[in-house]
Parts: sequence; C-alpha cells; structure tokens
Amino acid sequence: MCAKVTTAIFPIAGLGTRFLPATKSIPKEILTLVDKPLIQYAVEEAREAGITDFIFVTARGKSSLEDYFDTNPTLEATLRMAGKTQLLDTLAATNMDSGRIAYVRQHQALGLGHAVWCARRLVGSRAAAVILPDDLIVAETGCLKQMVDAHDETGGTLVATMEVAPGQTSSYGILDVEAEKGRLVYPRGMVEKPGRGTAPSNLAVIGRYILAPGIFEHLEARTVGAGGEIQLTDAIAAEIAIRPGSVLGFRFTGTRFDCGTKAGFMQAAVHLTLRRDDLRDEFADYLRGVMDRDLAPLRAPLRAVTSAAS
Ligand code: G1P
Repeated sequence: MCAKVTTAIFPIAGLGTRFLPATKSIPKEILTLVDKPLIQYAVEEAREAGITDFIFVTARGKSSLEDYFDTNPTLEATLRMAGKTQLLDTLAATNMDSGRIAYVRQHQALGLGHAVWCARRLVGSRAAAVILPDDLIVAETGCLKQMVDAHDETGGTLVATMEVAPGQTSSYGILDVEAEKGRLVYPRGMVEKPGRGTAPSNLAVIGRYILAPGIFEHLEARTVGAGGEIQLTDAIAAEIAIRPGSVLGFRFTGTRFDCGTKAGFMQAAVHLTLRRDDLRDEFADYLRGVMDRDLAPLRAPLRAVTSAAS
C-alpha cells in the first residue's frame, strides 16, 4: 500500500483554436456536452477517485473557469426562493471547498510537460494525478478511480493506455512494451508522437496519469522534445530509464472520446445523450430518422461503388 493520491492537476491552458469561433470568448473547457461543461466531467471523475485538491494550470482568457467553480449567491438565492432544490443540488456539484482549488498560470505555451511542471510547488513531494479533460472517458467506474485503485497496489507512475489504429500512433505518446500482465503494461520506453512507421507499438497514452514525485525532477530539466515542446512523455521515459519497472501502463475499461476534435466532441455528445433517462427516447427517435432520411442517401452510392468493384 502507498500513500493515497489526493491531488490532481488539470492542464487547461490551451487556446482551443480548433473550436473557434466558439472559443474566442469562452474557454474550450466550458464547452458543453449535453448540459455540463467538459471540465465538470473531469472534476467529477477526479472526485470519484478520491481527489480532494484541484490544481488548474490556466492561461490568459480562462478566468470564467474560476467563476464557474465559485459560488453564485444571487443565482442560488433566486433558486432557493423559487423552491428549485434540484437545481441547487446541481449547482452544488460545481462548488469547490475553500482552499482546495488553486489556479496557476502557464505564462508561455511550452508544452504539456511544462504545464505540469508549473504546478510543482503546489504538488510538493506527493504523487499527483493528471487529467487531460479533452480525453473524456465514459466508464462504469471512472478511469482515474480504476487507476488509483491499481496504484494502491503498484505505487510508482501509472499512465492510462489503450490501443489505437496504427495510422493514429503519430498523434499520441506510445509505449514500447516489454511485458503485460492483466491490465498492467510494463514499458521499456515511451515515445511522444513517433513518426509514421516508427511507433514501437499501437498502445497509446490517454490523458490520465498518476505521477510519482520523481517525474517533476525530470521536468526540471525542461528538455525540449517532439514539436519543439517540453513533453510529459519524455519526463516519464527518463523515469523508466533510471528506475526500470517503476512506470506502468494501465489498460482502463471504458469508452474514450477525443473531445479535442470536433468529430470526437460530437460523438461524445451523442453517446452521453443516449445514456440520459430524460433524453434517450426522444433522441433515439431523432437518430432513427437521421439514419433513414439523411444517412440512407449517403450509403446508396457507397453500395454502388462496392458492387461495381466486386
Ligand atoms: C497529449 C500527450 C500525449 C497523449 C495525449 C492523449 O498529447 O502529449 O502523449 O497521448 O495527450 O490525449 P496532445 O493530445 O495534447 O497533443
């Protein structure tokens, strides 16, 4: 058994340019899936895992996030007077305990490793989780809780991993796998965004990490890696090199959506809507109509091409 992980870092300094113009005046993390901002899903997953201390690594233009996690006395008083207790409960989930949330600015966009390093003084010498909110993971038991439970046994550094299509490996940190046992993967190395045809496997790192304190020492070196950025992957690879066996991949269970892309974001919205008791029936009816009416014509020429080729 090792010390419980109670701190999580949320690197959210990115500009979100893929979602312009929406992100011109609101942070990407406030973009809404059904009725909750992306960041709320990440915070709820962290809470489920036992996280009590939240560190947001932000940048200029993200101040509405601070308001989002604050109380809103006027709104709350109005809801209370109107007897809307359910909405008051919904709002309560967005509040943080005093002194348990901290914001630190990443003054320059120098990469994910740099963003995590910016939180070093707030983390101290404990292990800390990192959650990348763009990676939305829908699971019976939250991905980070699965990892914290595994980490209770393994200690060290843990990275969430899943297989991706070989053509996609250049978009991820990729594990060089030495061995596997159950859900644990033993890497002999890790490489950030390998060039096409050079990936050591198709096991990609997904945006959930539990970092041993030693990782921050590697980040201290501020080594520039793939894309000219300071990469978290490189710091973890350095840890594997000096403490072999102390870094493990963890094959989580759940469905992951890449909400950093428009297509992934829309897929997550459909998936989450279909899981909602209050929306499922109406939305499923709508989707059936879409399949019959809008998708059928798209399928027809495809079938023609297939049969012509056969
Ligand atoms: C980051 C990490 C990468 C990881 C990915 C998961 O990349 O650098 O190692 O595989 O998140 O989503 P980004 O998506 O920020 O380019």
